[in-house]
Amino acid sequence: MKDKRQHVICIANQKGGVAKTTSTAYLGAALARLHRHVLLIDSDPQCNLTYSLELDEAQQEFCLENNLASIYESGQPAEQCLVNIRENLDLIAASPDLVMTEVTLDSQPEVLSEQPERILSGALKPLVPRYDYVLIDCPPSQGMLTLNGLVAASWLLIPTLASVISLTGLERMLEQVHEIVHGDPPLNPELKILGVLLTKFRRDRTVEVELEDRLRSLPEEFTVFKTVIPDRSQFELLGELKVQTGRHLLDLSMVSYSLLPYLTLAMEIEKMLRQKSWAQSPGAGA
Ligand SMILES: Nc1ncnc2c1ncn2[C@@H]1O[C@H](COP(=O)(O)OP(=O)(O)OP(=O)(O)O)[C@@H](O)[C@H]1O
Ligand SMILES: [Mg+2]
Repeated sequence: MKDKRQHVICIANQKGGVAKTTSTAYLGAALARLHRHVLLIDSDPQCNLTYSLELDEAQQEFCLENNLASIYESGQPAEQCLVNIRENLDLIAASPDLVMTEVTLDSQPEVLSEQPERILSGALKPLVPRYDYVLIDCPPSQGMLTLNGLVAASWLLIPTLASVISLTGLERMLEQVHEIVHGDPPLNPELKILGVLLTKFRRDRTVEVELEDRLRSLPEEFTVFKTVIPDRSQFELLGELKVQTGRHLLDLSMVSYSLLPYLTLAMEIEKMLRQKSWAQSPGAGA
């Protein structure tokens, strides 16, 4: 068996509508196309990732019983909740039950576990070695579901719009990460920021271009990915007929301007992670 990379990437930003779910789906599809073995986790009670993947009827039925809520609520082994979407791409689905799970986690977490912020990380432990990438799609909040994602992850990817209000959300996210890494006790000292991803970007809007420049000129607290995800209106100008979603995500016969920037992002991430693991390996730079 070839060595798996075992990178767990949490995709989070408490700001809503910044393309967390879209980025999870497309980045997962892009990595799978690069022959990486990918697990997607829908950790949002809105279930948008699960719905966007357009599961067939049998899969939908399976996911009603075997999903992230049952992992949290009854300690079901995560392995029993895997759904294969396409070659190299698996999913642990969300279900509407996750709404109640989130309420319990936020109001009476001790009912579920003595270490409620570590439930996801514990559940994923036996699965992670099987994958090159595990991508966790978080809800737009800083609650316990997001915290579980951040504690389970080695990397955080923060999608954001290039708008002043979104950048305020980014600051709050960075504060939460600081607390998780350096708190007393630290919940996850291993967590690192992989990068900030500008999404729905419109290069024809001066304000967005100026904000991008500002972000890129900040001192190196975090990386802003070179890859920027253009707003779909830009693809329409190029004449894309259909936005590639769900069942078509891995259909190689379809040309998709939606998927292309995520393929570029996937390659950028692979390169970054290769360099980072080299820099961290014993003897590097000696
Ligand atoms: N590149 C893009 N161009 C235009 N629209 C986009 C793009 N990416 C995503 N969207 C749209 O933006 C909306 C929000 O996207 P998405 O659901 O991925 O965001 P989110 O951050 O996951 O939202 P939430 O915070 O509610 O979970 C959706 O309607 C989606 O189709
Ligand atoms: Mg979402």
